[in-house]
Amino acid sequence: MSGAVPGEVLVTRERLTERVREMAAEISTDYAGRDLLVVGILKGAVFFTADLVRELTVPCEIDFMSVSSYGSATHSSGVVRITKDLDVAIEGRDVLLVEDVIDSGRTLRYLMRNLSARDPASLETCALLSKPAADRLDLGTRYVGFRLPDVFVVGYGLDAGERFRELPYISALPG
Ligand code: IMP
Ligand code: MG
Repeated sequence: MSGAVPGEVLVTRERLTERVREMAAEISTDYAGRDLLVVGILKGAVFFTADLVRELTVPCEIDFMSVSSYGSATHSSGVVRITKDLDVAIEGRDVLLVEDVIDSGRTLRYLMRNLSARDPASLETCALLSKPAADRLDLGTRYVGFRLPDVFVVGYGLDAGERFRELPYISALPG
């Protein structure tokens, strides 16, 4: 085990593996014969993206974007800035945006608006985790790994002030 357990384990390593496999199977069915470009959002979705694409049975390309949202360590303000844009043009392509967690949904809403303005053939989203507030924004997220209560979590890419990303499971952050 890497690092110390910061709080209660909410999603075990085994359950992550199993669910990622299920999601990849669904995505593989949906994208058969299409031009799939997987876009991972740095840094939180990096492990999820890497695990997901390795379970796909359809070909894909991979690119990454990095965004920073202004706000405190544990709450995003909704003001989003792209700090690393895509390397490729997405016009006419089938884009699948991969995000670690949808909390308020503001980050994803911004990204969907930004990317859809580039005229992809299709644009869908895949989130490992979704919190209750995200459902209220109704972003139409196509693939959701786990629905969580309104708690702050770390691990499997998710951080608290850049810590705990390396944990191989999803854990609550106490206090
Ligand atoms: P939203 O814009 O409120 O949906 O926030 C999305 C972003 O906030 C995610 O991409 C994460 O970087 C961060 N975030 C939201 N909730 C958590 C959490 O529980 N743990 C770690 N990061 C989180
Ligand atoms: Mg973060």
